[in-house]
Parts: sequence; C-alpha cells; structure tokens
Amino acid sequence: MYVYLNNKIVPASDAKVSVFDHGFLYGDGIYETMRVYDGVVFMLDEHIERLYRSASLIGLAIPKKISDIKISIYETLKANSLTNAYVRLTISRGYGPIGLDPELCKEPTFVVMTNEFTGYPKSYYEEGIKLTIASVRRNLREALNPQIKSLNFLNNILAKIEAKQADAYEAIMLNAEGHLTEGTISNIFFVKNGILCTPSVECGILDGITRAMVIDLALKNGLEVKEGIFTPEELYTASEVFITNTTMEVMPARRADKIDKTEFKVGEISKLLLKKYRQEVNGYVKEKKAEDPSLWE
Ligand code: PDD
Repeated sequence: MYVYLNNKIVPASDAKVSVFDHGFLYGDGIYETMRVYDGVVFMLDEHIERLYRSASLIGLAIPKKISDIKISIYETLKANSLTNAYVRLTISRGYGPIGLDPELCKEPTFVVMTNEFTGYPKSYYEEGIKLTIASVRRNLREALNPQIKSLNFLNNILAKIEAKQADAYEAIMLNAEGHLTEGTISNIFFVKNGILCTPSVECGILDGITRAMVIDLALKNGLEVKEGIFTPEELYTASEVFITNTTMEVMPARRADKIDKTEFKVGEISKLLLKKYRQEVNGYVKEKKAEDPSLWE
C-alpha cells in the first residue's frame, strides 16, 4: 500500500509523521473522507471546498493548489491500483515544538490515504441498523463548531463508545438544548407524517455533502423537506429513520434504543432515496469520465 505524504508517494511503512506533529499532540488539523466509484472521486469539488472552509475556520493555510490536491488524490489511487475505494485526506498544523501557538509549526503535514471500499453488509440496508441516543452532547457551535471537519474527534468517539455499549451501530447526539444534531460520522433524517425531517445546520451539525444531495433528491421527487429543530421524541415516533454519509450513502435504521425500543420499518422513502442517490452517483461517474477520459484510461 502507498500513501501520499507531503509531496510524494511513499510505501505505507515509510509514511511516518513526527510525534511533534500538532495533529498528534493537539488534534490540530482537518480532514475529508471521499468515496471513489469506478475510478472517479465522487463530489471531489464539494469535498475540497469544505476542506478549504475547515482550514479557514482554524486559520490554516493549505500548502497546495486545488489542482495539486486533486492530482495527489488520483496519484495515490493509481499507486494503489484502486478504483472502488475511500480516500482520507488529512492536513495537520504540522511539526513544531510543544505549545498551542499555530505559528510554532512552519509547514502543515499533508496526507492522502486510500483503501479498497468493500462495502457494508447488505443486511444494513435491507434490515436497517440500530441507533442509540448518546448521553454525551454534541460540541457547542460556539465552542468547537461542528462545521469544522477537524481531527479533534473525541466528542464523537465518546458517543461511539456509548453506541458500542448499547450494541448500536451509530449514536445520535443531542445539543446542549436537548435537540437532535447528528451521528458520530453521519447526518440523520426521519419521516414524520410523510415529511422528510432533518436537523438544521443551526442545531450544530456538519452540513454533510450526502445530506445536501439527499435533500435535493427528496425535493426533486416531490417530497416535502423540513430542516428544523427536533426533539428525540419526534425521532421515536417517526415512521422511517435513516443516516447518511459519503461511504454509507443512505443507510436505514431499524431501531432507536434506550428509549422505548422503537422499531422503524425500512420504509419506502428510505428505499427511494437510496435508489435515487445511487442513480445520481452513476450519472456523475459517467459525466466525469466523458469530461476527461484520459484520467481513467
Ligand atoms: N464523516 N457528520 C459528521 C460528524 C461526520 O463526520 C460526517 C462524515 C457527516 C456526513 O458528511 P458527508 O455526507 O459529507 O460524508 C456528518 C466521514 C464520512 C468520516 O468521518 O469519515
């Protein structure tokens, strides 16, 4: 396996970062996860745009041009002969002496890692996954804005530990007011009286790229969508629930535990949106391949 580290591809065994790296010492950095379908990085421009937003929100100057970032991703995929994969792009503040001051680090550390995407078990989509509501609250927007896709993931990891303890696949976090926000690595949707509901960005979430696409697809297919403020009770009484992210796409939930053992059906709206999402992916891949065939030959 090969990894892109700073300016070159190196064997994974040589892809080493210093213990003085502020990503390691302080979680000072940002990242993006992308999915590659048939050699094409899905929604690459949107992910890079969000990467720049995260960088700007933490005052980090990305040491590469957008075109060079794209090249580094495709070079890493090529070095690993991968066409169906996920990509993790990480930029940390870089190497520097101990101390919080970002100016201690002269150069950010830039890493692209890829691996084959083997998919989730079919049963996750056919039967739905189990969710739980975590007791740990989502980071306050005013403290660590969830719109920064940062390396500082302890908030989410604490919630993930609770999910595992509850034998659930994903944990949904509430904000300080007790309203629904999002999962540890996903956004949440539910259907109530035929309306597709999802917490608004103001609740303190990462505005997922998949989430935006799903909202768009729902509207295009004649569904009513409500981005708003919701309580866990509204989730328990939903007719359908699903979570979204880049690798999961649209993943239905079967049950929200801890509360009243609510069971949801893998309903028609979840199925429709997953189908439409996958159609959208296929269209995107075809379009990109037609735009620049040389990239995929
Ligand atoms: N996670 N919310 C959080 C906290 C996330 O970490 C993610 C993505 C999402 C969904 O975003 P998108 O649809 O753009 O993937 C929402 C990625 C997959 C990760 O952590 O690897």
